[in-house]
Amino acid sequence: MNPEDDAPAPFWMPFTANRQFKKAPRMLVSARDMHFIADDGRKVLDGTSGLWCTNAGHCRPKIVEAIQRQAAELDYAPPFQMGHPGPFKVAERLKNLMPGDLDYSFFTNSGSEAVDTALKIALAYHRARGEPSRRWLIGRERGYHGVNFGGMSVGGIPGNRKTFGNLLPHIDHLPHTHDLEHNSYSRGQPAWGAHFADELETRIVALHDASNIAAVIVEPLAGSTGVLVPPKGYLERLRAICDKYGILLIFDEVITGFGRVGAPFATSLFGVVPDMVCIAKGLTNGAVPMGAVVVRKGIYDGIVNAAPENAIEFFHGYTYSGHPLACAAALASLDVFEEEKLFERSRELAPYFENAVHSLRELPHVADVRNLGLVAGIELEPLAGKPGSRAFDAFLRCFDKNVLVRTTGDVIALSPPLIISKQQIDELVGTIADVLREAGRA
Ligand SMILES: Cc1ncc(COP(=O)(O)O)c(C=O)c1O
Repeated sequence: MNPEDDAPAPFWMPFTANRQFKKAPRMLVSARDMHFIADDGRKVLDGTSGLWCTNAGHCRPKIVEAIQRQAAELDYAPPFQMGHPGPFKVAERLKNLMPGDLDYSFFTNSGSEAVDTALKIALAYHRARGEPSRRWLIGRERGYHGVNFGGMSVGGIPGNRKTFGNLLPHIDHLPHTHDLEHNSYSRGQPAWGAHFADELETRIVALHDASNIAAVIVEPLAGSTGVLVPPKGYLERLRAICDKYGILLIFDEVITGFGRVGAPFATSLFGVVPDMVCIAKGLTNGAVPMGAVVVRKGIYDGIVNAAPENAIEFFHGYTYSGHPLACAAALASLDVFEEEKLFERSRELAPYFENAVHSLRELPHVADVRNLGLVAGIELEPLAGKPGSRAFDAFLRCFDKNVLVRTTGDVIALSPPLIISKQQIDELVGTIADVLREAGRA
């Protein structure tokens, strides 16, 4: 990055074209509310909540101060066989936010760790109940569940899997729910596609037998693959089939949690209660890494009560599980969400956002627009032989015009902070419109 220095910068960037980036870096140096400040002083509108994280906007004073105070008071405490108040308080707040008897939280440091933890809980639970043969874990094509071996194995994004060998054994995948022929330009949930859930019964249970299947994990709305909204009735059907066969249902709400879909969680929006929910990102408003698995009471009781008294019941945990700084950030974030009624705000803004994004449908090379809450995907027709490059070009052009969007394949994904104003929605969508027109002429 230093022009006088031939050697590339020693930072190996994640999920980034390192060589391309280092030739023309895009650097952010500070942030406040809806904006980043770039290193050239430009104010950049954040259309992506960073990476689906900063649901309350950036550098919110209440969250910043809580982290500062905590760092000075209790920087670290060991989480194994010792406690501190932070995770007890966060777990209590999560219990109150979650529907049904999703009562117990196990803390991690990321979404990937939350997913791998949930998969391990599923295996441990069936073993504790005396059904250790239930080992198969079922994911979904196009699913994203982070990058650790469990999440990668149940995940279904080919590019994330192909380099890493055979992954975990005993994994199968449901089909994804995306079908442009039937569902393009859906506003909210597509009307068509609930039947995709039936494959759990007709193929997967039929093939592997329910007595071997531990859990199904899905994102209620698939985010990273390019915003796939669940068809009406799909999640309900998955729940019913899981119930019929004693299979645990895990919702990965790492993206959909904390108001993103116009409700506290997708489980609350859709009224479908899974057995476990994976969360991260918005939990601390992105300010300190933290994830969690929230499990139904019966799962906690099943594992904990099966172990001998005074024995460790679940041999799993991280040095930083329930880290004091993360807990301080989570408690302050939950306060901000509540005090500013941001989940309600997300629901109220959703129709305006929906109309704005669907105004893009006639623009050059737009193949689909889809949305739910404050999430939208704008799918572009791929350039022949260069998948992903049309959307990446749009991302670069937007950044030049002081707007940050995210792209995945040929989908532009939008997930602005829930504090966005209508005027800023117009700016975000207007900039994308300008860019698509401009690129269409090029
Ligand atoms: C649905 C889902 N699960 C898991 C993850 C992984 O989270 P992390 O990057 O914090 O490990 C992500 C990240 O985007 C995600 O979208």
